[in-house]
This record gives sequence, structure tokens and C-alpha cells, in this order.
Amino acid sequence: MAGHHLKVLAVFGTRPDAIKMAPVVLEFMKHPDKVRLVVAVTGQHREMLDQVLAAFEIKPDYDLAIMRDRQSLAGMTSRALEGLDPVIDEVKPDILLAQGDTTTTFVASLASFYHKVAFGHVEAGLRTDNKYNPFPEEMNRRLTAVLADLHFAPTTAAKDNLLAQGVPADRIFVTGNTVIDALLHVAAKDYVFEDERLQKAVSSGRKLILVTSHRRENWGEPMREICKAVKELVLAHPDVEVVFSLHKNPIVREVIVPELDSFERINLIEPPDYVPFVHLMKASHLILTDSGGVQEEGPALGKPVLVLRTTTERPEGVEAGNAKLVGTDRQKIVQEAGKLLLDSSEYDAMAKVANPYGDGFASERIVDAIFNHFGGKE
Ligand code: UD1
Repeated sequence: MAGHHLKVLAVFGTRPDAIKMAPVVLEFMKHPDKVRLVVAVTGQHREMLDQVLAAFEIKPDYDLAIMRDRQSLAGMTSRALEGLDPVIDEVKPDILLAQGDTTTTFVASLASFYHKVAFGHVEAGLRTDNKYNPFPEEMNRRLTAVLADLHFAPTTAAKDNLLAQGVPADRIFVTGNTVIDALLHVAAKDYVFEDERLQKAVSSGRKLILVTSHRRENWGEPMREICKAVKELVLAHPDVEVVFSLHKNPIVREVIVPELDSFERINLIEPPDYVPFVHLMKASHLILTDSGGVQEEGPALGKPVLVLRTTTERPEGVEAGNAKLVGTDRQKIVQEAGKLLLDSSEYDAMAKVANPYGDGFASERIVDAIFNHFGGKE
């Protein structure tokens, strides 16, 4: 029967890609009778990727280790492309899968095109319609959509974006976002923080504000504004404690650390592993973030999310009333967060559990659609 196995090559390399591909990988692994799954990681993120691989107990078959300190877009694009070439030659997959909008994902779609291998795009169809915002993600996902054969759209709005781009309807599958599969899997379990500082912050009795910021559009001045807003919030609200999860990127740290280091009730922490991070979100009162994934996770946990960006490709959370776009203006952030801290009706309106991004079964739908496409369904 080995000859009849469908061969799937899953490619990812950053923290968010790994979190969102892990449920798909694990779902395929339930069907060893039908599929041979090969995992290739680019290693675009070294430490942050390895954390997620460990959390989901996934062992990559190939690791391209492309990360460099202060890597340029062109450098990592070409290293990933050259690295994937021999892997595709060797594996000879029936289909290559990648998720989202990172450079790893775009390169995976390009590499599969060069090898005339089918490409499946997980989390397809997100758009801001602004070429440079987010940069380079908006173009990464548009270019990927041009090269993809199967499009797994998380929501109907994402499907509509793909239809508008001319993607045939029978190539689009609305599946929900796999980030919710991963989240529900992890959030249901009890957890005690091993990190003493986190345990202390979480049990301080204060309102915990969780902050993350890493986006290229926010590098420099906007990120400094975010830091100043965080300081102001802490000074104005004695019942608030901040946990700021620092991205590994040195360009991000150079701004944040000097602004916020050793400030009272502000904890700058290394990016926690995925499992503690989920429990940190669960323990928080309010989330300030420019991350895409956190915008999806917050609503599912019933946490208000203030989005530190001027655009979002994830309008569903805003429409559901769980998220608000506040940008990076210091005053605006202080004002919007202040409202939620002081006015319980404002807070309650945003702090309701909603699942605009998925029901936890996205990976099952994706795997089913792929089996169906290749006629492998029994
Ligand atoms: C990347 C993605 C972005 C995604 C983000 C999530 C691209 C172009 N950007 O941005 O879409 O939202 O990941 O985190 O694909 N670094 C480490 N260790 C790590 C990870 C990063 O040291 O584990 C440092 C390196 O110095 C690296 C830098 O961070 O040069 C930036 O990483 P890079 O992948 O270029 O961009 P991100 O900002 O992480």
C-alpha cells in the first residue's frame, strides 16, 4: 500500500506558523494508513520555533536553519528558497502546505511552483488591501494566493477576499483558523507557572495587562509611543500590573528595554513557551498587541484586545466587539485602555467569549479537503 500513500510536505519556520501548522501536522499523523507526512522547517525563528515544536512534540525531518542575527528579507528569502529546493527534490511530495503570511510561507509557495507541486495555503484570504501595511505580510499572502491550488480560508470574509482576487470558488474551503484548534487543546489544561516572576505577577491581585509588540511597521518611534503609553497606564492605575513579552528580535528590544526596564509593576519577560503564553493570556485582564495570532486568541478566551496597529486583516474580532484598533498613538492607547480599566460596562461588553475565527475543528476540515482532493477518502 505504501505506493498509494499521499505524500504531504508541511513547511513552516516562525513561531506563529508553527503554532498554526501544528494541529494540521498532528491531524495528518492520525492517518498513517493514508498519508506520509514530512515536516521541513526553515528555522526562520530559531528559539521561538523550537519552543513550539517541543510543546506539540513535533520532530522535523528537515531543518534548514536559515536564521541570522538581524536578517534581511532578501537574505532569508533566498536562503529559504535554496534550502527548500533539494528537500522537494528528495521528498517528491504530492502537495506542499504552508500557513499564513510570513516570508517562509511565501517562499514555500514559490518553491512548490518551481517544482510543479500542488500548494495548499492554510489561513488564506486575509487582506488589508494596503501594500505596505503590514509589511511584508500583505504581499506575502497575496503572492502566495496567486501560486496556491487549494485555499483554506479561516472565515467567510477571507473567502470573499479570495473570490474578489479571482480564485475559483471550488478551490476555497472555509475551515476556521487552526490557531483555535491549538488554543483549545492547550487552554483546557490546568497550569501552574514555573517562572516565579510570572506566577507572582499573575497572583498579585492586580489587573494584568499583557503586552506584545514586534511588527516592522511599529519599529522605532511607534514602538516608543507604545512603551510610553504603557508607563502612563501603570502610573495612572495603581491596580495594574504589566507583563510585556519581548520578541527575540534585537531591533525590537533596543527600543523597549531602555524605555521600560526596571519600571515598577512592569515585567519585561522573555517570550514564554506556547503553553505558558496561553495561560498568561487566560490570566490577563486586557491585552495590548500588534500580533495577528493574539487578535484571534483573545476573543476565544474572552479577553478584550486593543490592537496596536492602524490596519488589520482580522476584522472579525473588531466586528464581534472583542477587539478595537487603537494604533500607536500614546494618548489614544492610554485613553482606550483607561476606559476599560475604569468602566466595567465598557469592559464587560468586550470581555465576552466569542469565536469568530473558528470552532476548534479547522485541521480536520483541512485534512479532509486534501484527502478528498486527491481521491484518497475511504
Ligand atoms: C516574523 C514574520 C512576521 C511574524 C513574526 C512573528 C516575516 C518577514 N516576518 O517577523 O510576519 O508576524 O515573525 O514573530 O516573515 N530572532 C531570534 N530568535 C528567534 C526569532 C527571531 O533571535 O527565535 C531575531 C533574529 O535576530 C532575527 C530577528 O529576530 O533576525 C527578526 O526575525 P524575522 O523572522 O526576520 O522577523 P520577525 O520580526 O520575527
